[in-house]
Amino acid sequence: MNLVTLLQPPRVALGNGCAPQCAEYLAQRGVRRVLLVSSTPVLPTLGAIRDALQTSNLTVVTAAPVDSEPTCAQFEQMLAAARRENIEAVLGIGGGSAMDVAKLLAALIRGTQTVTDVFGINLLAGRTLPLVCLPTTSGTGAEVSPNAILLDEAAALKKGVVSPHLVPDAAFIDPLLTLTVPPGVTAATGLDALTHCIEAFANKFAHPAVDIYALEGIRLIAAHLERAVHNGQDREARAALALGSYYGGLCFGPVNTGAVHALSYPLGGRFHIAHGVANSLLLPHVLRFNTPAAPERYAEVALALGVQAAGSAAATAERGVECLGQLSRHCGVPQTLSEMNIPREAIPSMAQAAMQVTRLLKNNLRPVTEADAVTIYETAF
Ligand SMILES: [Fe+2]
Repeated sequence: MNLVTLLQPPRVALGNGCAPQCAEYLAQRGVRRVLLVSSTPVLPTLGAIRDALQTSNLTVVTAAPVDSEPTCAQFEQMLAAARRENIEAVLGIGGGSAMDVAKLLAALIRGTQTVTDVFGINLLAGRTLPLVCLPTTSGTGAEVSPNAILLDEAAALKKGVVSPHLVPDAAFIDPLLTLTVPPGVTAATGLDALTHCIEAFANKFAHPAVDIYALEGIRLIAAHLERAVHNGQDREARAALALGSYYGGLCFGPVNTGAVHALSYPLGGRFHIAHGVANSLLLPHVLRFNTPAAPERYAEVALALGVQAAGSAAATAERGVECLGQLSRHCGVPQTLSEMNIPREAIPSMAQAAMQVTRLLKNNLRPVTEADAVTIYETAF
């Protein structure tokens, strides 16, 4: 058996209405002054959590809202502002962007490292501040993962920090926080979570202890995403997606993603296409490219997506790819790069940029050359 190290917060609370419990958790650890990192749409919805924080005698310092995928420059500003406050803990409540910023702030506020020092794997010196995360979308799984992503504007590329110190001390996963997420965001984030599970299952470093989460995540998301997109108040569907997204997050630390994420980075970094949409555009094409390297593996993905087995593993895998296209169409997500107004001339430079994301490409079941990346972008065009 190959080696795997499983990481997740020591405390994970899961269930409707668990969000305000984060206040008691922080108070029990002697925290009196907490930095709240959230976003403009989420901040006005935090009444019950703010009440609980007040009841527990916690003073809340609210950071500047994280409203789009954060840049290094924005992060450095937030870090400088946070260092001027006497912060004792960090509470990240939001989608992946807000939680990623919360995670990096908690790790860097007390230290001397800058964020550019820590891009890469295991370069973070440590984290002394308690860190608690609450997801308000079902997508990134950042509430349990050791990853954080920022946009390096100079390089027009998203860059990742991976470190066990970024795993929060506690996650409170409350599906009720996701009921008001609009359909487009529900679709994009859900397809992102689905991509995490698929890329972790069909991965060079796949492991049986991670496969169980990945397969169950695929099954839950495929079965419930359309329902949540078409009726945001569907509590059963929202709970299934929250769970699927959590499972996707659990796959991140030990196994991580592959070529879909690597090739989607230039779409986000250069053309500001939402992360989940970029992944969903590329997913079928990368899967078709990868299938010959592991048809049985992709057939298992297809079965978890809910398709019937066909005559061969490759044929079953192809049914899975078709099912993914159908799912994203039914969720109203764009299908081609041209629909996203990406100029065809950009493909060679996007392929070049994607090749830099070696920390993910190394996980892909089939080696991807720059020429392969060009072909994949062309087929997605
Ligand atoms: Fe992702």
